Amino acid sequence: MEEDFDVRLVEEVKYYRPAPEYRKNAWTDDYERAYAEFLADPVGFWERQAHHLEWFRPWDSVREWDYPYARWFVGAKLNITHNCLDRHVADHRRNKVALIWRGDEGEERIYTYYKLWREVNRFANGLRSLGVKKGDRVCIYMPVVPEQAIAMLACARIGAVHSVVFGGFGAQALTTRLNDAETKVVITADIGYRRGKRIPLITIVEDAVIDAPSVERIVILRRQQEYPVDIHPERETDFYELMEGQPFECAPEVMDAEDPFFILYTSGSTGKPKGIVHACGGYMVGAHYTTRHVFDFKDNDVYWCTADPGWITGHTYVVYGPLMVGGTVVLVEGTPDYPDPGAFWKIIEDLGVTIFYTAPTAIRMFMKVGEQWPDKYDLRSLRVLGSVGEPLNPEAFEWYYRVIGKGRCPIVDTWWQTETGMQMITTMIGEPMRPGFAGRPIPGVVADVVNKAGESVPAGTGGLLVIREPWPAMLRTVYGDDARYRQYWETVPGCYLAGDLAIKDKDGYIMVIGRADDLIIVSGHNIGTAEVESALVSHHAVAEAAVIGKPDPLKGNQIKAFVILKLGQAPSERLKNDLVYQVRMMLGPFAVPSEIEFVDTLPKTRSGKIMRRVLKARELGVDPGDLSTLEE
Ligand code: PRX
Repeated sequence: MEEDFDVRLVEEVKYYRPAPEYRKNAWTDDYERAYAEFLADPVGFWERQAHHLEWFRPWDSVREWDYPYARWFVGAKLNITHNCLDRHVADHRRNKVALIWRGDEGEERIYTYYKLWREVNRFANGLRSLGVKKGDRVCIYMPVVPEQAIAMLACARIGAVHSVVFGGFGAQALTTRLNDAETKVVITADIGYRRGKRIPLITIVEDAVIDAPSVERIVILRRQQEYPVDIHPERETDFYELMEGQPFECAPEVMDAEDPFFILYTSGSTGKPKGIVHACGGYMVGAHYTTRHVFDFKDNDVYWCTADPGWITGHTYVVYGPLMVGGTVVLVEGTPDYPDPGAFWKIIEDLGVTIFYTAPTAIRMFMKVGEQWPDKYDLRSLRVLGSVGEPLNPEAFEWYYRVIGKGRCPIVDTWWQTETGMQMITTMIGEPMRPGFAGRPIPGVVADVVNKAGESVPAGTGGLLVIREPWPAMLRTVYGDDARYRQYWETVPGCYLAGDLAIKDKDGYIMVIGRADDLIIVSGHNIGTAEVESALVSHHAVAEAAVIGKPDPLKGNQIKAFVILKLGQAPSERLKNDLVYQVRMMLGPFAVPSEIEFVDTLPKTRSGKIMRRVLKARELGVDPGDLSTLEE
């Protein structure tokens, strides 16, 4: 962590207060009291949350904390799909709409809880027929279709560990993830749609598995009816043929609370992504509690989170959390501005969405195109607005509040991470909101802003964002690399280090400023500088590369790359295009640098480490800070 965090708060304080009914009717109707109850008895607090769910066997103890390793609901047995599906199928929600899917071209598919349960069970039986067993790793590389959620739930049903890889990743990124998790089966589709264009996912998978020897089988959802892709039966199976003839019942695998549930890769400060491992019991409790309390989820809500299930937001707040609370979930394959920038608002009007959860980058795009788009639609169904993925700047907050929420809806700006598994910091429904600030730690979480020694910094002073106590949905390890797990807890004494810079105000509200390490958040996607650099360096013309994030009014940050060419290579526009193509093919379109500059040298420390902080300061024309380690 080389960044300097000397930042101070100067703004005047401005709070927005939602109507009192919000607070009165909320599941958490008194933040202060709920927080005090949690602090007085953290274990009892989480035990009460766990009692909202059904377990096959109760726990012997709620929490065992052996720094930095936590075990939650020790000895308990469960299957999360029982709480997502069977439980509702057995009660009044049996015929309730669980999932409404809208495709890129406006098509619609609806699943009731009963239908979803049936499809999940049949697909789970299909996976078992392929020899997939508890603990086996299954990669899901799919577009946003109902079958993506069905595949996830089916893995959970049989105890297979899913590793969902976002469908925008390129072949190289997919290979790395397949190999790291020693994946047995890949579930994919022939194509995804994006802005009316077809993205050939199966071709990327076929490329990726060439160097992934553990993969035994590829299951393909064939969406193109007119020209179905060929199935090579020795290695491939059609998604629906796998389900054919399978019974509707599939006994859920009995999982131990601490059994691994899923792996989800996130960028780290080295080129190698980290396989974040979540455990069955604690994740279930954390996802259920936060979905219910942070969104104040009620039975008649129509809930839409715009994230792709390929990211953690989609795991916890598209699939598992909302289904556990028995909600009606909207799932959309489209982009916010296709076929026009009114696309999202039309969906809200059509479906009567009440809870809407999206990313600041989308909100800023909507601001840019103008109020006339949302103004064409009736958005009165909206009750709660949410934001996630990067700081929601005050201008975007105000616009979201006024233009979309009509000055009526509370906004939950939720701070959390792939690693935390659940939302950690926000302003609970009904509490005063401070634009620019995510809010306070939710009841159940102890968050703080500290110096490198782990001591709280004074209000209004910048520092490192940390979590002080274990929480149920926390990561358990990094797959195959426990040393990287320990770094989270062993860098700042006594704390889980999130890697973000933050400021706390005198009321305890936390403003998250950005990353303190070598990650760049572009449109809410977490991108490691090292990943982009190694993609650039793998081009034959490149000797060295360094990548920085530059503030961008829409995307939050954009990527700028500095490239040193090998001797005999000349800079050209064509070479720039080649490099862009290289990154796009290896990592995916969202990791592509928007600027490439050819340089002769890069600032380095005496030990040869590139000082990105110096590059960034030069680029932005600000003081580079301490240069004592810079080589002359
Ligand atoms: O820097 C923070 C930013 O996103 C990082 C986590 O990224 P990822 O694991 O991909 O998960 C994103 C979705 C949960 C954090 O370390 N971040 C996330 N939410 C916020 C945020 N920054 C500011 N405000 C937020 N609400």
